[in-house]
Order: sequence, then C-alpha cells, then structure tokens
Amino acid sequence: MNITIRPEQQRDISAIRRVTEAAFASAAHASGTEPQIVEALRNARALSISLVAECNGEVIGHVAVSPVHISDGSKGWFGFGPVSVLPEYQRQGVGTSLMRSALDALKHEGAKGCVLVGDPGYYGRFGFRPVPDLTLPDVPTEYFQALRFGSAFPAGSVTFHEAFAVESK
Ligand SMILES: CC(C)(COP(=O)(O)OP(=O)(O)OC[C@H]1O[C@@H](n2cnc3c(N)ncnc32)[C@H](O)[C@@H]1OP(=O)(O)O)[C@@H](O)C(=O)NCCC(=O)NCCS
Repeated sequence: MNITIRPEQQRDISAIRRVTEAAFASAAHASGTEPQIVEALRNARALSISLVAECNGEVIGHVAVSPVHISDGSKGWFGFGPVSVLPEYQRQGVGTSLMRSALDALKHEGAKGCVLVGDPGYYGRFGFRPVPDLTLPDVPTEYFQALRFGSAFPAGSVTFHEAFAVESK
C-alpha cells in the first residue's frame, strides 16, 4: 500500500469528516462527536497539527493535535486525537504512520510533550505511559497517557481544548 502522510488542506475537510465518522462508528469508546470536535478545533484555530493519510488520491486516515492546559502552568504540551483510519484500511500500519509523523512534527516545533486518552496496548508502542502526577479528570489513570520530549513531566490536572466539549449535531 502506497501511503502519503501530509498536512490537511482546505479540499480535505469533507473527507476528514467522513473518515472520522466511519472510524468511530464502530469504535468501542466513541462519543459520536469526534467529527464535530475536529471541526470545532479547526474553527477555533486550535488544530496545531492536522495530518491526513492519502492512498491513491483518497484520504483514508487523519490525526488531530491541539494544545492542552496543565494546572501547574507547564507550557508546550499538546493533546492527541481524534485519530482515525477508515475501517477497511485499519491494522495495516496507517495509524502508526500518522502517529509517528505527528510526533515528529511536534518535536520539530519544540513541543515539550503530549498526552492522549486511549488503549495502553496500542499507544505504549509510541512511548506513551500513564504518569502518576498527571491526570485527566474522570478518566481512569491507565487510559490517560503522556510522552515527554523534554526532561520532565508536568504534575497537575490536564484540560483539553474546549472544542472537545462540543455537542453532537
Ligand atoms: C486506532 C486506529 C487509529 C489505529 O489505526 P490502524 O491503522 O488500525 O493501526 P495500525 O495498523 O498502525 O496498528 C495496528 C496495530 O495496533 C493494534 N491496534 C489497532 N487498533 C487498536 C486498538 N483500538 N486497541 C489496541 N490495539 C490496536 C493492532 O492490533 C496492531 O497491532 P500489531 O502491530 O501488534 O499487529 C484505528 O484502528 C481507528 O481508527 N480506530 C477507530 C477510532 C479510534 O478508536 N481512534 C483512537 C482513539 S482517538
């Protein structure tokens, strides 16, 4: 499979919505608002990184990264998600390529680190780990994971961008 990972462009917006909808339609922990979250982040100019995976001219995957707030005042931290791959293209390495490209881009931009909510069995391979002093309210500790690029983890409570509270339409 010949996959290209590249930043989103204006012409990708409706395809990103379709990919996000399709990926989360059968996902175990979906809120159903993932497509709206991506659009609310974009509208708020809070999509720090938005990459698509393209195969034969078709958008088949997407990853969004946005800034997070940490209660100890740490700057330069970002939240991953939603991450989406069309069901028929899953388990072929597309999600891994999207994750690695987004992590490279964050490092390149001087980020201090990033966090996400997800299955430790999947995200552990990228170096994400639960960090005892870094928490997301109402999320079990094993599912809230962080990866640092700098020398230390923050200690505090994390808040994702307000776009994550968007209502389903
Ligand atoms: C999660 C997701 C982005 C992964 O993309 P993908 O292209 O299928 O992943 P890859 O092919 O790169 O990775 C496959 C590996 O991850 C594992 N994997 C994939 N999804 C997994 C999941 N939800 N939980 C645990 N492991 C998972 C596979 O078993 C496989 O492991 P292996 O390499 O040891 O065989 C994709 O499955 C998806 O869109 N899921 C629905 C939406 C979602 O849940 N997104 C994540 C939360 S934001």
